[in-house]
Amino acid sequence: MKEQISQIKTTVEELLKNATDIEQLEDIRIKYLGKKGELTGILKGMGKLTAEERPIIGALANEVREFLTNEIDSKKSEISKSMLTERLKAEKIDITMPGKKSELGNLHPLTKVLSQFKETVIGMGFNIAEGPDVETDYYNFEALNIPKNHPARDTQDSFYVEDSIVLRTQTSPMQIRVMENNKPPIRIIAPGRVYRSDTADATHSPIFHQIEGLVVDKGITMADLKGTLEALIKSIYGENSKVRFRPHHFPFTEPSVETDICCFNCGGEGCSVCKGEGWIEILGGGMVHPKVLSGCGIDPEVYSGFAFGFGLERLVMGRYDINDIRLFSENDIRFLKQF
Ligand code: DAH
Repeated sequence: MKEQISQIKTTVEELLKNATDIEQLEDIRIKYLGKKGELTGILKGMGKLTAEERPIIGALANEVREFLTNEIDSKKSEISKSMLTERLKAEKIDITMPGKKSELGNLHPLTKVLSQFKETVIGMGFNIAEGPDVETDYYNFEALNIPKNHPARDTQDSFYVEDSIVLRTQTSPMQIRVMENNKPPIRIIAPGRVYRSDTADATHSPIFHQIEGLVVDKGITMADLKGTLEALIKSIYGENSKVRFRPHHFPFTEPSVETDICCFNCGGEGCSVCKGEGWIEILGGGMVHPKVLSGCGIDPEVYSGFAFGFGLERLVMGRYDINDIRLFSENDIRFLKQF
C-alpha cells in the first residue's frame, strides 16, 4: 500500500510538470485526490490493515494528499500568472499610433434658424407654446372662424384621421389653445410640424414647419405687428433686409396681411428664385378677428391682438439660398454638413 501511495505521488508530480492549463489541473485533482479518486480509494481499503500499520499508512496518505494539493495549487497560480502575462502582452496598446477621428455633428438648418428665431422673440418677452400635431376640427378650423364650406377644409388639402380629427394643417390652432388657458397679456410663439396633402416638389412638402405668433393685450395695433415682424426678419436676414406688407385675407384675422421679403438672390431686380417678382412671400398675419377672441372668452371691446404664421422652411431656404424643400428631409450628409 505504501508503494501504491508513492506511485500516485510520482505519477501526479509527472503529470503536473506537463500540465499547461487550469482545466488539466482540475482533472488531475479529481482523478487522484477527489472523493472517488485513486488516493481516496486506497484509504478506503485501510480496514484490511493491522492495527500497527493503519496509523502509519494513514499518516503517509495524508501527507501525500497535502503535498499534492499544495503542488496543484502552486502550479495553478503559476499558470494563471503566465496566462495574465500573455494576455497583457496581446492587449498592449500602442499609444503612439494615430487615433481614430470622431466626426462632430452639427445642427439641422431648420433647428438652427428656429433656435435663432426663439432667441430673438424670447428677448422680446415671448414664451414658447407647444401643442398636438393631431387636432380636432374645432381647433384647426372652427374656432379659427373657418366655416364648414371653406376650401381649406377640403380633404384635398387636409389629412383626416377621422371625421372631425385632422393632422393640423397649420399651427394657428395653438392660438386658440393658448387663449383658452391664459388671460391677456399674452405673448407666445408656437413652432411645430404641419401637414397637408400636397405632392412633394421643389417648393411643396406634405410635412413642413410653421412658427405661429400671438400677442393679445390692451391697445395692440397693426403698428405692433409691423414692428415685431420687421425686427424678427432683420434678426434672421440682417439689418439691411427689406420687408413689405400686402393686404390679404385670412378668416381668423381682420385686417390680414401677407409679408414679403426683398429677394435675397437678386435684391429686388427680379430673378428665377423670386419668379421675376423681386419679392418672396414668407408669412401671413393680421389683427386677431374679434370673433376668434370672443370665442376664447376674451372681450374684443377691451383687448386686441395680432397673430402671424411663418413658414420655417421658406425662411431657411431664403436665409441659406436653398432651392429645394425636399433637401431638408432627405438626410443627405453632404447637404447637412454645410450649415
Ligand atoms: N395659418 C396660416 C396658413 O397656414 C398662416 C397665418 C396667417 C397664420 C395669418 C396667422 C395669421 O397667425 O394671423 O396659411
